[in-house]
Amino acid sequence: MYAPDMPRIHELSQEERDLYARLKPESLPKHVAIIMDGNGRWAGRRSLKRFLGHQQGAKSVQLVTETASRIGLEWLTLYAFSLENNLRRPRAEVNFLMRLLKSYLESNVQRMMDNNVRMRYIGRTHELPSEVQEKMRWAEETTARNTGTTLTLALNYGARSELVDAFRGLATEMERRRISPDRITEEDIHRHLYTAHMPDPDLLIRTSGEMRISNFLLWQIAYAEIFVTERLWPDFRGIHLLEAIAAFQRRERRFGGIGESCGEVEQDPERMKIAAG
Ligand code: FPP
Repeated sequence: MYAPDMPRIHELSQEERDLYARLKPESLPKHVAIIMDGNGRWAGRRSLKRFLGHQQGAKSVQLVTETASRIGLEWLTLYAFSLENNLRRPRAEVNFLMRLLKSYLESNVQRMMDNNVRMRYIGRTHELPSEVQEKMRWAEETTARNTGTTLTLALNYGARSELVDAFRGLATEMERRRISPDRITEEDIHRHLYTAHMPDPDLLIRTSGEMRISNFLLWQIAYAEIFVTERLWPDFRGIHLLEAIAAFQRRERRFGGIGESCGEVEQDPERMKIAAG
């Protein structure tokens, strides 16, 4: 057994190790979020049914998660099934995705244990079929004590409905505690999001070339670096995660400031507090 939370670089493929050697381990992103897109196109280009694209996409989920855990990435969040997917896709495809999720959890929990991966979810998961919810609970409980990468699947998720749920929760709390609306802070909203327990994503990856956010983590990606690749999700592997991280490390993150290359950066904590409300 390896020590918890230690990167397991020796388990990377040779190609991944070569690329990892060029990264700065001290400035890895803490949280990477991915919009997994292109399963249908992957299948279409091979004259296969869309279902096979999703099946191959599930394989990518497993492999990318394993690379993430080997490099010691703390948080990986994947957009696996949106509220819009649930409402707008043919029932047969939605049912297939639910069966695929169930069988993915059944057959991957042991690998998650081997890789010290903790499984979590965000979204209106209570609206999913009960047998899927049961399997989700089982996977979450089985992996709960793992201390490596937290893999969060966004399921029946939409960022606007997350904000609606957060505002409902906040309004209820304010009424109970008799707090006036002008005292609301960003921190209060953050506490009521599904993601209250995790840091905001530093890096958002989208596969298959579309330049859209598609209602994913709208609040949380305020300062995320965005990396879009033409590669379709079923072709995306750990090495491509490392390529995205390499691109991330070449960016200059400013958080609304002027950046280090422009001279001295003022970091007055009192002024930062005022800006955050
Ligand atoms: C987009 O492909 C992808 C999805 C609908 C969600 C992602 C689903 C998976 C990766 C498979 C299952 C996941 C797990 C965790 C078991 P698309 O169908 O929109 O592709 P297209 O835009 O090319 O049609």
